[in-house]
Amino acid sequence: MHAVVVYESMYGNTHVVADAIGAGLSEAYQVDVVGVDRADAGLLEDADLLVVGGPTHVHGMSRASTRKAAVEQAREPGSELTLDPDAEGPGLREWFDALPSLRARAAAFDTRVNLPPVVTGRAAKGIGRRLRRHGLRVVAQPESFLVTKQGALEPDEVTRARQWGRELAGA
Ligand SMILES: Cc1cc2nc3c(=O)[nH]c(=O)nc-3n(C[C@H](O)[C@H](O)[C@H](O)COP(=O)(O)O)c2cc1C
Repeated sequence: MHAVVVYESMYGNTHVVADAIGAGLSEAYQVDVVGVDRADAGLLEDADLLVVGGPTHVHGMSRASTRKAAVEQAREPGSELTLDPDAEGPGLREWFDALPSLRARAAAFDTRVNLPPVVTGRAAKGIGRRLRRHGLRVVAQPESFLVTKQGALEPDEVTRARQWGRELAGA
């Protein structure tokens, strides 16, 4: 069985979480973990499970304007933020716009600040809606992995992501 984990990531948190989810899934699946710009139709056509995640930006999925702001923040003098290799590529909204209908199981995740969702918003909800619209059967609740207000993954979130991947593999 084949699982594909597709991630969008500006600063690397969602990329790290995607890798951990992929590691958890690999107990039951052959897994590809790919940035959104490399997740083309050829890779997805034989996928049995598609897991899609991105950062929460302005309460939801990123937009071109929020990704541009993220790049600018990283380039400010004195910034300690580093851009993920694919950070300046397309985002998940654009990827979904070009995605054909697919028949597979699916799940959505995001990264967001460790505060109540009513304060932060959750990109995973929008991702989950788009997965359904593309004909995919969503088999898990949207999941969030949390970062500090300073933008670092909270301790144990990588372990939790690996465990979530394992649970998805068994779902
Ligand atoms: C432009 C911008 C807007 C953001 N808006 C939110 C937000 O509304 N809610 C939230 O919880 N986090 C917000 N964040 C924080 C990111 O969701 C968080 O740092 C995430 O882990 C970044 O993932 P990445 O490292 O994969 O890019 C925002 C970050 C940026 C750069």
